[in-house]
Order: sequence, then C-alpha cells, then structure tokens
Amino acid sequence: MGTALITGATSGIGKEFAWQLAAEGNDLVIVARTESALNDLAEKITNFTGQRVETLVADLGTESGARAVGMRAASVDKPIGLVVNNAGFGLGQDFLGGMLDRELGALDVMVRAILVICHEAANAFAARGYGAILNVSSMTSLTAQGTYSAHKAWVRTFTEGLSETLKGTGVVATVSCPGLVHTDFHNRTNVDSSQWPEIAFTPVHKVVSRSLDAVRRGQVIITPSPKYTVAAGAIRMLPRWVVRKVAGPGRSGRQ
Ligand SMILES: NC(=O)c1ccc[n+]([C@@H]2O[C@H](COP(=O)([O-])OP(=O)(O)OC[C@H]3O[C@@H](n4cnc5c(N)ncnc54)[C@H](OP(=O)(O)O)[C@@H]3O)[C@@H](O)[C@H]2O)c1
Repeated sequence: MGTALITGATSGIGKEFAWQLAAEGNDLVIVARTESALNDLAEKITNFTGQRVETLVADLGTESGARAVGMRAASVDKPIGLVVNNAGFGLGQDFLGGMLDRELGALDVMVRAILVICHEAANAFAARGYGAILNVSSMTSLTAQGTYSAHKAWVRTFTEGLSETLKGTGVVATVSCPGLVHTDFHNRTNVDSSQWPEIAFTPVHKVVSRSLDAVRRGQVIITPSPKYTVAAGAIRMLPRWVVRKVAGPGRSGRQ
C-alpha cells in the first residue's frame, strides 16, 4: 500500500480523507497548523487501523510552510502516492471594508500553496511514472461570490490543465467540487449553517468516497453529489448576469 499526504487533515473533509485512506490500508502524512490536533488524530488512526501516520505542522499561508509540504510530497526516499490539497477556509468578510491581510492569506492557502505543492508533486511523480493529485475546489467555483469563488475557480481550471499536462506520464490529477458539507468551515467564518435545508448538505463520507473513486477512475472533475451535479449543469446554462444576481457577493450565507 502507498502513502497519502493530506492537507487540512485535522477537521472536516480532510479528516474524513485521512480515516478513509487509512482504513483502506494506506499510510498517511497529515498536514495542518494545529500540532495537538495532528498528534491526537495520528494516534487515533494508528490505534484503530494500524497504519503509520506522520504529522507535518505547516502553515500553508506561508512560503516556508507550502515549500515544506511540497518537498515532503516530492520525497524520493519516502514516496507519496496521493496528494490531497484540501486545506481551505471562508474569508468571513466583504471585499469592501475587509482586511487585505485576510484576502492575501486566503490566496496564499487556497491558490499559492496548491501551486507550490502541485509543482513539486507533479514533477516528482511524472519523473518516476506514477502518482495522483486530488485538489479540493467547491461548487462555488461556478458562482460569483467574490474572492473565495475566484480561488476555487482557479483550483478547478488549474487542475484541468494539470491533468492534460500529465497525460501519458502515469500521473492523474482530479478536482473535487463539493456543495455544502457539515464541517467546521461555516463555524469558523460565523456562518449559521442551519439557515440551509438539510437536503442541501452532502454527507462528508460520501464527498470523500466519491472523490477517491474519481481519482481511481482517472476522472478529472468530480461533483461528489448527484444534486449538485444537476445544479452545476443548470448554472452552466444560465446567463452569467443571473448567476451574479442569485449567487454573487452577499450570497455566502454570512450574517
Ligand atoms: N464545508 C463545506 O461546505 C465545503 C464545501 C465545498 C468546499 N469546501 C472546501 O473543503 C476544504 C476543507 O474544508 P472543511 O469544510 O473540511 O473545513 P474545516 O473543517 O474548517 O477544515 C479546514 C482544515 O484546513 C486546515 N487549515 C486551514 N488553514 C490552514 C493553513 N493556513 N495551513 C494549513 N492548514 C490549514 C485546518 O487545520 P488548522 O486550523 O489546524 O490549520 C483544517 O484541518 C476547503 O478547501 C473548503 O474550501 C468545503
């Protein structure tokens, strides 16, 4: 079995990736900023599954953090088979009147770090002829909800190009575009997730298992919910002015 590296593994979707991949018999490298949460999760996963779990404390909002993760992903001595670029967060502020540092931090974590890690991983994986990269985008990549949408659109477009670039190398790149999922994501940005009907949420285990199945099939884009697959089709057919009106800034659900 191989080793999977997962960013943002201490919570929500990333934690579920960690559990499912370990349950399948993979060793892990789990990445986040909170050392205690990483150690706690590593111990639990090892106790339950017997898999080896390495922890890597890194702030992906920093150049050194992103490069450290990129270097670990590209290691020849301790090879990684799958990289899951999952870490991310909502900005929790409007563009007008918001903090520029918060904007730059979001860009660093959700765009720059993914570029750095993919650059290292893709080159290393292509040189040896196998491996997979899974980047977590969002349904909001199809909307116009400000910079978060723009970052997630970058992830989707970037991964599509990467998958073409990697054709014939033995390496696959997949982008997952979940809709609403119950995690810490909304709490962290003061969004009351009870405002949306329960039917709008996809269970986290389904988001993760469908995304991993897509990686195994070599599928480039996965919307890991039938409901959101239909919604994505509808959004693509709508004029953009309608999308801006119904899913533009101010429609993120933030109070
Ligand atoms: N929940 C949803 O409805 C939803 C829908 C579509 C897409 N997504 C995307 O899914 C991904 C995972 O989100 P989630 O819902 O699972 O959120 P979450 O529960 O808040 O988890 C976010 C994870 O990212 C890590 N993280 C945040 N900032 C980081 C940084 N600067 N450096 C390193 N790690 C960092 C956090 O750990 P530390 O705080 O310890 O660093 C945590 O492990 C994100 O990319 C998000 O945009 C979520």
